[in-house]
Amino acid sequence: MSGRIPREFIDELLVRVDIVDLIDSHVPLKKTGNNFVARCPFHIEKTPSFSVNRKKQFFHCFGCGASGNAIGFLMDFSHLDFVEAVEDLAGFAGLEVPRISIDHQASGSRKDLNSLYELMEQVAAFYADQLRTSDEGKIAVEYLKSRGVSGGCASDFMLGYAPDEWKALASRFDQKLLLEAGLLVSKEGGQFYDRFRGRLMFPIRDRRARIIGFGGRVLDDSLPKYLNSPETSLFHKGKEVYGLHELLEKNAKPQRILIVEGYMDVITLAQFGIHYAVAALGTAASQAHLDLLFRFSSELVFCFDGDKAGREAAWRAMESAFSSLKDGRQIRVMLLPQNHDPDSLVREEGVDGFVGRVQTAVGLSEYFFEHFSNELNLSEMEGRAQLVSKARPYLERLPESVFKEMMLARLKELSGWAGLDVLENATTLVSKQGLKQYPRADKKRTRDNGRLSSARVAIALLVQNPRLIEALDQRQIDWGALEFPGVVLFKSILQTITNKNPANTAILMECYRGAVEEKSIKALALLDLQVSDDKVDAVFCDALNRLLTQAREINLARLLDKDRVEGLDAQEKELLRKMLAVK
Ligand code: UTP
Ligand code: MN
Repeated sequence: MSGRIPREFIDELLVRVDIVDLIDSHVPLKKTGNNFVARCPFHIEKTPSFSVNRKKQFFHCFGCGASGNAIGFLMDFSHLDFVEAVEDLAGFAGLEVPRISIDHQASGSRKDLNSLYELMEQVAAFYADQLRTSDEGKIAVEYLKSRGVSGGCASDFMLGYAPDEWKALASRFDQKLLLEAGLLVSKEGGQFYDRFRGRLMFPIRDRRARIIGFGGRVLDDSLPKYLNSPETSLFHKGKEVYGLHELLEKNAKPQRILIVEGYMDVITLAQFGIHYAVAALGTAASQAHLDLLFRFSSELVFCFDGDKAGREAAWRAMESAFSSLKDGRQIRVMLLPQNHDPDSLVREEGVDGFVGRVQTAVGLSEYFFEHFSNELNLSEMEGRAQLVSKARPYLERLPESVFKEMMLARLKELSGWAGLDVLENATTLVSKQGLKQYPRADKKRTRDNGRLSSARVAIALLVQNPRLIEALDQRQIDWGALEFPGVVLFKSILQTITNKNPANTAILMECYRGAVEEKSIKALALLDLQVSDDKVDAVFCDALNRLLTQAREINLARLLDKDRVEGLDAQEKELLRKMLAVK
């Protein structure tokens, strides 16, 4: 959009801002020992388990597991995406975000966007005014009344009316901007006319309340029933939902969000006091939609018509849902009775009836297996085999989680196929891309006799105190020749610290945002080693020595083994000689 933010700026920002000050300005902190604590803003609790560490520049909640640096805090706390969080943090530090422009136009594009947003605002105000004051608008008001929409609700959603004229906008606003905003349609011969004519208008706002597009409905049975803004530089259908701004106005942290199909469904539900519905804009809910909504609530309920098209749409939505599911996130599916949409159903059954259905909507797992059980005969072996081959690809797409393990267990139970054990174990070692994953922090196998392995202690101390790299530099260790569990991760961290020289853990973590290693490194950053500040160097050197000895022993054993079985080449012989000499 407006150029990339230079990496160095992000690093500088993380040095300049003290995460304690930042978080304290949002959630008042109390000092206890080395940490600052508060009641966690990310889950409900009575006693504080949310702690902020100044040295690491990191926060962590022992209750819900939320953790991250200053950027991560703003992303989670204020529901921002990465760039927005950096902008906010820069604002907190009183800095301007520099941009690397991709081409010459880029520097001007920010200004252009602002004038587009301004235009959209003026056009929405014009439509709203037409609804209230024009003669034609009265017909639209009558229509709204006939559908039971109150004046208050109409104004909450900023509803308007586009007059039935060819140049209502074109004669009032800047043509070039109107065209860019998708509000004009071009005719042959270089002529333009208004896209929306004689329609009830629904402004689409993003979560920062900016109008990015419109939907328009005819007032009779003519077609097309709805027209929507085309894709523009402001409006991306696949990423935005209708009603999110209005929802957040009522409740910034709703318990659940309902995903419905239509504009009128959102509005009618809101009018009935159900302020937690949004609509995907005439498209199937995409993964981007779900990731957006999961920032505001941990539970999403899909609401679909009960007819064939609705059931198919539900299944398609499910497919995008699978990759967004992490632990703590829940998706449920609600199929409506035939010939009903939420608008008509809530009017017929009332709020209690409708909410009752929402609360009893089936969970994703149940819905998933029901879908297959309906089309397969599980009492026959063939049916059970088909179940495995059909369901497995979906389950493999799930992020590593307890949920995934439970889904696999259920599949095993339904199919009775023990071969799935292999898959279950494999998933913890091999990720989607076939890359090796690093052992999880909580796994027993990383500990020997209940103690943390030296590799783990050394890596964790390094992540928590990147300055320890100096101690390593002096030792001139040949990492290439070493082998121990976690060596790939260790090398990656060494490389990053050498290249970037991060001043603290938070900056090191920032280098891994979105990377496969992110989770493992976060776990290392949070690992409580119970080492006091003055002992860090000594414990690190000790762990390192033990690690090197172990690694050498592993190598030695491997070489001796190979020597015995198939013999060594010249290079290996040389290596073996050296190793034995060192010993
Ligand atoms: P529906 O046809 O189910 O309409 O389309 P609806 O929401 O129930 O509308 P009312 O109650 O008749 O007013 C669902 C959604 O699909 C998109 C719109 O977003 C609509 O809200 N749609 C539908 C279009 O984009 N274009 C159309 O022509 C029809
Ligand atoms: Mn409808």
